[in-house]
Amino acid sequence: MHGRFSYKSKDQLILKARELNLDMPYSEDLSPLTESAIVNGFPVTNRMVVQPMEGHDGEYDGSPSDLSRRRYLRYAEGGSGIIWFEAVSVSSDGRSNPRQLWMQKKSQDKYSFLNGDIRKHANKNGFNPMLVIQLTHSGRYSNPEGKSAPRVASLNPVLDKTAPFILSDDDLKRIQDQYVIASRLSFRSGFDAIDIKACHGYLVVELLAAKNREKSIFGGEETEKRFRFMLETIDRIKDEVPDIIVTTRLNISDLYQGGFGVNETGQADFTEPLKLVEGLQQKGIQMINLSMGSPYFNSHITRPYDNPLPGFNVPAEYPLEGVVRMINGTALFQKRFRAISFVGSAYSWLRQYAPHAGAAVLTNGGASFIGFGRNSFAYPSMPSDIINKGKADPGKCCITCSGCTRLISSFKPGGCVIQDREIYGVELKKLIADGH
Ligand SMILES: Cc1cc2nc3c(=O)[nH]c(=O)nc-3n(C[C@H](O)[C@H](O)[C@H](O)COP(=O)(O)O)c2cc1C
Ligand code: SF4
Repeated sequence: MHGRFSYKSKDQLILKARELNLDMPYSEDLSPLTESAIVNGFPVTNRMVVQPMEGHDGEYDGSPSDLSRRRYLRYAEGGSGIIWFEAVSVSSDGRSNPRQLWMQKKSQDKYSFLNGDIRKHANKNGFNPMLVIQLTHSGRYSNPEGKSAPRVASLNPVLDKTAPFILSDDDLKRIQDQYVIASRLSFRSGFDAIDIKACHGYLVVELLAAKNREKSIFGGEETEKRFRFMLETIDRIKDEVPDIIVTTRLNISDLYQGGFGVNETGQADFTEPLKLVEGLQQKGIQMINLSMGSPYFNSHITRPYDNPLPGFNVPAEYPLEGVVRMINGTALFQKRFRAISFVGSAYSWLRQYAPHAGAAVLTNGGASFIGFGRNSFAYPSMPSDIINKGKADPGKCCITCSGCTRLISSFKPGGCVIQDREIYGVELKKLIADGH
């Protein structure tokens, strides 16, 4: 049964995990989070990652605004080993909203300036983060003009409300070109790595699951065809932009019927994701950021929370079940592919205990990096506190209220309405006053 976080001590939390028959890792010692690592020859100074989090606050030409800049400079000062930029569109028609960041020729200089500033701010505080840009096409969830304009890989009876536009093979080849162009621009803007986003229901993960895409070189029953778009895009980027590191944020299970990494009834089945990771390993991919579920269909799986968005049902499962599902899924992949560094997700519901769970996961070999999503909105300096003070401040943590998601779902700038309320609390008040 669903419930809210109400624990005054780690013992109470661990007891709850036991009651639910969940094996929740926990370590008092946070030092594993502060250890360095090497990814594709790049020295990463610690194991904490700012997860990609869309802020819906870019300029119309796709460049970062002052507000986007503010978010990233806070991350820069916060001390994470990796700053994983939010979903940045490779094309205008694939934007999730009119303010989504978009990497194009016109906006490239702004990313160069921002990255220069991020590095200055980080260095000033003794940090030197790896900068990863998440490149995406929003596919089914494209809203470039602020209205839904889905462009899908194939039909999905569970998700389709109306007949969507199905992208042709030629459309997909053009989108592939856009990924290569955006990767080149990203390299010129000073990013260390690009992520081919393959999660949360967007275009690339849809293609991985597109069994009922007919007469296409990019879909059908065989995995070779369904994996082709992603693997070929990676080959082209490696050929044409050889000095950028390539990674992916990958859903290991969508957990709905017709999705990726599921059986016929929509339950998790990792057979195909494991096969894909094997293929990615053969292409020299050394880091993969894992996730599950879809923010549009089963959001509690992607980000376990206390409060759902207004008007949405409270999920049946207790949020800790979602946290542990992600930990266990990630560990399965990490233990199978030891040469790849996996980034674990969905820790924020654990508040101040999240770094303790993450440190135990690192020690047990269940992941190589620990990602913080909402908690990075709320408390971007948590890594710095862990490095310098040896602990996180409970009063600054995310409380998984879904306020940030509420803002971005209404196409407002996203950030923490609780811990950064001068900006985002005010945005939420305006939204409520407007009747949303
Ligand atoms: C407001 C918001 C925006 C997000 N934007 C992205 C995104 O751009 N790309 C992505 O891969 N995940 C995105 N996510 C998912 C997060 O990266 C993360 O996986 C999720 O919040 C669970 O981690 P957490 O428990 O640490 O928050 C977003 C989540 C939220 C709440
Ligand atoms: S608004 Fe703040 S506290 Fe609420 S979920 Fe988002 S980051 Fe967490």
